[in-house]
Amino acid sequence: MGTTVLLGGKLRDVAIAALDERFDVKRAGNMADLEAIPASDREAIRGLAEGNGFKLNNDVYRLLPNLEIVAHHGVGYDGLDTDAAVAANVVVTNTPDVLSDEVADTTLGLLLMTVRGLSAAERYVRAGRWAKEGSFPLSDSLIGRTAGIVGYGRIGAVVARRLVAFDMKVAYHSRNPRPDAPYTYYPSLLDMARDVDTLICILPGGEATENLIDADVLAALGPRGVFVNVGRGSSVDEPALIKALNDKTISAAGLDVFANEPNPSEALLAAPNTVILPHVGSASEVTRDAMSMLVVDNLSSWFDDGKPLTPVAETPWPKSP
Ligand code: NAP
Ligand code: 8YV
Repeated sequence: MGTTVLLGGKLRDVAIAALDERFDVKRAGNMADLEAIPASDREAIRGLAEGNGFKLNNDVYRLLPNLEIVAHHGVGYDGLDTDAAVAANVVVTNTPDVLSDEVADTTLGLLLMTVRGLSAAERYVRAGRWAKEGSFPLSDSLIGRTAGIVGYGRIGAVVARRLVAFDMKVAYHSRNPRPDAPYTYYPSLLDMARDVDTLICILPGGEATENLIDADVLAALGPRGVFVNVGRGSSVDEPALIKALNDKTISAAGLDVFANEPNPSEALLAAPNTVILPHVGSASEVTRDAMSMLVVDNLSSWFDDGKPLTPVAETPWPKSP
């Protein structure tokens, strides 16, 4: 008999085909679907491919008593309680690196849209205002700007290289300096915000980063300041950001992530000089194929060789006896 895994939520077709080829696959769109699977079938499930929309919670360990591994789709796993996974002796994997280029490209696109007002410029043409009102107002510029990257990890490093190609000066803040980073390191986020005019946040979510971008950081960034967030919405004090945009404490914001997804706050949607994207950082076909395949490859590696390819730091392996 083959190994049984659960496909929770959605993965790309290429990965579903690979999963079906290697495993006996049960399917559940969400946790309620999982609960509806008969207990004897659930007991056979040893791995979980956690795709989009599944919204895993800790009931999963009760419902799947023989679960060994959760292969999470996405590099960020702040929605997953790793303490509960450890308690259940379940290994968690994520999908690092394969999405870094895509998210970095999105970051640069969002930065350009924000500083140069490109989405407002397009709306101006489509509303017929170009012919009626003349040229679109002049915008701010990337020229001469200094960027501070908050959360200089795998994606931050790729973003930095692109910023350098745009002739921008780059600094970074994380809790630890990176010896391989050829940029100025700031142990203090506030000090960095004071010295840069463009703050790019690519932090993980979770308690350690909650509301790190607050009113003081935004005030330090100053009136020419542009804030871009492609990390997690929870890292930003959104009411403080909305106030800073409305009272011109900073000049503009470009946001791909929000505290309340998929329903960003109305006040944020109405804030001036704000570009809003629907969490599309990694959302290209090629990158989502690569992320989906890494989910499947983690399961295959676990069940074939006893080791996950990309385990998260918090959960245990090697495999417990
Ligand atoms: P990573 O390699 O783990 O980098 C995270 C960086 O953040 C590390 O350099 C870490 O350095 C720093 N950091 C963590 N906690 C911090 C804190 N409290 N204060 C200051 N710095 C802190 O992760 P990654 O692969 O670059 O991904 C980063 C995040 O991007 C993900 O976790 C996810 O939330 C987000 N993301 C968003 C999208 C999107 O579609 N918008 C797509 C992919 C990823 P230290 O440990 O030294 O502090
Ligand atoms: C995806 C992400 O939106 O990888 C992450 O942390 O935020 C994005 O790539 C998400 O994970 C899709 O499942």
